[in-house]
Amino acid sequence: MNVLIIGATGFVGSAVAAALAEAGHDVAVLRRPGGRELPYRSVPGDLTDPASLKRAAAGFDRVVHIGAPLGEELDLAGVDALVDAGSPLVYTTGAAVLGGGTADEDTEPRPHPFVSWRAEVERRVRAAGGRVVRPGMVYGGGGGAVPALLAAKAAERGTGVYIGEPGVRWPVVHVADLAALYVAVVERAGPGTVWHGTGETARLDEIARALGGGTAVPWPLEEATAELGPLAGLFVLDQDISSDRTRRLLDWTPKHTAIVDHLKAEPPVPAR
Ligand SMILES: NC(=O)c1ccc[n+]([C@@H]2O[C@H](COP(=O)([O-])OP(=O)(O)OC[C@H]3O[C@@H](n4cnc5c(N)ncnc54)[C@H](OP(=O)(O)O)[C@@H]3O)[C@@H](O)[C@H]2O)c1
Repeated sequence: MNVLIIGATGFVGSAVAAALAEAGHDVAVLRRPGGRELPYRSVPGDLTDPASLKRAAAGFDRVVHIGAPLGEELDLAGVDALVDAGSPLVYTTGAAVLGGGTADEDTEPRPHPFVSWRAEVERRVRAAGGRVVRPGMVYGGGGGAVPALLAAKAAERGTGVYIGEPGVRWPVVHVADLAALYVAVVERAGPGTVWHGTGETARLDEIARALGGGTAVPWPLEEATAELGPLAGLFVLDQDISSDRTRRLLDWTPKHTAIVDHLKAEPPVPAR
């Protein structure tokens, strides 16, 4: 298929672009002004300029959005422009759109306030016949924004750090498994559908211990919020998210299901 990728220089997007090319698809990438050059055909456009998105996204078999979220106004204008362009969309949100608790692909979103508008983004994508992918926290290959943040805190404190109480669970996924899921979604997912990119459910205090050389201490939410802003609130959101239907219908089997061992063997590069 002829596929445009938005966010192809990013952590997830670069893996997805490589996996789609490897699977034989004709990959093009959105390149913003001054953006890094990649070994794919580039199409000019910028997520902050909806008119440029509408021009860029026309005429593809799939447009796969794995770009950064830029806030309610820009994301909603952007999704409308992409829908107007007329190419079938595959749009990335995230498990946080489901809020806390137990959920599967049929659960109505109850988004965490940090990503509140993403439920409406999803609604517009699905109403237009697009496909939504909700990844859990993505790790692997020494990358990922959250592992990098937690590794930086561990290096600073000399011990692992988790926010709030111990025992908070998050859905997580290795970037290579997630890239394989996008290939399956591009090739086989029907219109108006939602897919969960989660390989396992992991405890954040155990991840902190793995990054802290075997020890971890709590970081009070108020202190973490003072440093990280509202993002800190996501770290106390306990989530048990199923991807059973995604696995069954797309024949997707994550190969990496031991994040704690992985982070010990292949530590993330701390964020600067
Ligand atoms: N990583 C995770 O753990 C995780 C978990 C759940 C959901 N997600 C979702 O997955 C998506 C990708 O995450 P990621 O971790 O791969 O992010 P990332 O590494 O920060 O990559 C973001 C991408 O967006 C591009 N971008 C930013 N501003 C842009 C603009 N104005 N115009 C065009 N492109 C722009 C960046 O391009 P430049 O290189 O030019 O800046 C980059 O390619 C996001 O929607 C995120 O919310 C990620």
